[in-house]
Amino acid sequence: MTLDSPSSHQPSFTSRIVPVIVITDVMQAVPLAHALLAGGVDVMEITLRHPAGLAAIEAVARQVPQMQVGAGTVTHGREMARARDAGARFALSPGMSDELVQAAVDCALPFIPGVMTPGEVLRAREHGFGLLKLFPAEQAGGVGMLKALAGPLPEMRFCPTGGVSPSNLAQYLQQPNVAMVGGSWLTPAAALEQGRWQDITDLAAQATALAAAQ
Ligand code: 3PG
Repeated sequence: MTLDSPSSHQPSFTSRIVPVIVITDVMQAVPLAHALLAGGVDVMEITLRHPAGLAAIEAVARQVPQMQVGAGTVTHGREMARARDAGARFALSPGMSDELVQAAVDCALPFIPGVMTPGEVLRAREHGFGLLKLFPAEQAGGVGMLKALAGPLPEMRFCPTGGVSPSNLAQYLQQPNVAMVGGSWLTPAAALEQGRWQDITDLAAQATALAAAQ
């Protein structure tokens, strides 16, 4: 399979914290976007794990243009065009396949594929990617794994996700090869369901302050 180089199709964000979000009701999307912005987080990864995900991306893209909304848990090539058409500015996946890479290139959608091993990092680099999601980060070895990867592959940048929390956030962000971190702790399901937007703003503000201190 011949793949166009996707290296120019990778996103960059202001925030180093990427909330990984499962929205179950499209009505949650816009207030959540405003709550995160109020806490200094200008990026959202809305996962396609729930059928409401695409509609939520569309609502944020249309109504909150200052928020950089992307699609997460993209695991099929066909989802790439749906995400782009909904207004997603980027896509993330827990892994990488030729189908996903080709779909991202075809859609001209900035894409961060997931990796867990050095071999997968090499394969992603061969496809032109310099920014990768390390997933699941804690299970892959966490900060130790990132330090180990920095030796032979110093030019690669990562967004560790999976097991990141306020207790280990600082250590992750201090790694020179960590561009940003992802996690679900900023958007607890109960807070979304109950519309506790101030709680989410507080969590986002804490994370933003911690990131600024690194
Ligand atoms: C993801 O899909 O990126 C992870 O489920 C997020 O992991 P976390 O829930 O441990 O933050």
